[in-house]
Amino acid sequence: MATFTRIDEGESPSITIHPANKIAKIDDNIYGGFTEHMGRCIYGGIYDPGNPLSDENGFRKDVIGALKELNVPVVRYPGGNFVATYHWLDGVGPKENRPSRPELAWIGTETNEFGTDEFMKWCEAVGTEPYLCLNFGTGTLDEALGWLEYCNSDRNTYYVNLRRKNGREKPYNVKYWALGNECWGDWQVAQLTKEDYAKKAYQWAKALKLLDPSITLILCGATGHSSWDYYVLKECVRWDVHGLGGDSATKSLIDMHSIHVYTADKEHLANATAPRGAERAIQMTSALIDLARIENKVPVSVPKQKICFDEWNVWDPMRAPGEQGAEEKYTLSDALAVAVWLNAFIRQAKDVGMANIAQSVNVISPLMTTKDGLVKQTIWWPLLLFTKYMRGHTIALNVKSSEYTGRTNPAWIRAAIETPLLDCSATLADDGFVNLAVANLNEEKDFEVALDGLQADKVEVFIVSGDNVSVTNTAEEQKVGIRESSWDGKGAFTFARHSFTLLRWKGA
Ligand code: AHR
Repeated sequence: MATFTRIDEGESPSITIHPANKIAKIDDNIYGGFTEHMGRCIYGGIYDPGNPLSDENGFRKDVIGALKELNVPVVRYPGGNFVATYHWLDGVGPKENRPSRPELAWIGTETNEFGTDEFMKWCEAVGTEPYLCLNFGTGTLDEALGWLEYCNSDRNTYYVNLRRKNGREKPYNVKYWALGNECWGDWQVAQLTKEDYAKKAYQWAKALKLLDPSITLILCGATGHSSWDYYVLKECVRWDVHGLGGDSATKSLIDMHSIHVYTADKEHLANATAPRGAERAIQMTSALIDLARIENKVPVSVPKQKICFDEWNVWDPMRAPGEQGAEEKYTLSDALAVAVWLNAFIRQAKDVGMANIAQSVNVISPLMTTKDGLVKQTIWWPLLLFTKYMRGHTIALNVKSSEYTGRTNPAWIRAAIETPLLDCSATLADDGFVNLAVANLNEEKDFEVALDGLQADKVEVFIVSGDNVSVTNTAEEQKVGIRESSWDGKGAFTFARHSFTLLRWKGA
């Protein structure tokens, strides 16, 4: 957690770090990914048979290598909006028998060449855990139960035997299952009202947990600050349900609540501070979970449901339309916004159980494939530094900084949460290193900052920046990357204008 003290432009900023004050364990799953059958994410992204860069399964080896570098712990699949018309049975068994189908989310054709077994194999190659999203549009509960049985059971039953016939003896043991995707959205095939969704999600959850009580079920929320979120939490966060393991008061029907937010703005400071709205959404969702638990008298012995922020990123769908593959070109301003996003997850670690950048490759992604290689977009670099170092526990810190006071996007951010020009978070990693992440959002001003609580004579310094906030990375030219150096820890540290800096030192 970070507290923020607003100062005037002319005053000296400072950051006070309290490495001994651990606030909460950071769940590694905040560095999750997301692969949807959309644009070039699956086909031409992770799966590109015939390309010399692919392995014998058709998986792009360079993409696997990059996701290993990010140490991605969990990947959501197969959508997204795509899932609302997806029938998993179309995507298993011999490829020549798999049907092509019209795809209604992004108006394409789904060949089903890549399906469940390919995804599971790909996850094994990446060293990540699968997270499956169920079809709440045209799908049925029977189909969902069949998919769960296919993936997780080792009994002598129909779908288990089908899996065996398809070449996989052992169950995949998929832990994470989402009860639909954005079922509230009017772009959704078979959109639901909150009343209809809550009724359906509750009944599906019960059946799914009867089949496999070990799974983690994720409720479909909206933005985290809507009446949908309040209503579905109130109706579904229950513990007194038959089939959850008798009266042992430690289990609940719903384990996590999913929310989605994308941020973007044409102007740099409105763009880079927009993720503060998402951070406020986390705080509001946490309060709504508390409220549902209070109203439903959920005993304290049932662990509090965590937030699953399973789609987040910078995205302007007008600029990069989904139907055209949503290939956003990210600027340095976007990289700073992503640093603020990630700072938010670290600061709110107590409540965030998972977060999935949307998406892992080509579609609104840090990572782009070309026929003969990879482009690491600007937003890749802060993400890489966070995934490498910002783990362990989030620790207390106080930031004294001036604030951006202009227009925010959305406008309500201004009244709901501060927008400091120095956006910071800090961690104490399990290896004893203290890590301080600082985004200086000011385009014109370097800040000389006193770092109270830093006791070290060797500090590793990693800086992500570029000539101006509009620069991008292309296959031809990498204008944004990481600059590494070291510092003796003496005096104040200057955080350069429009930069993201990660400082790292061995704790006392
Ligand atoms: O990630 C792109 C799309 O954004 C997803 O399919 C959908 O869930 C969201 O609206």
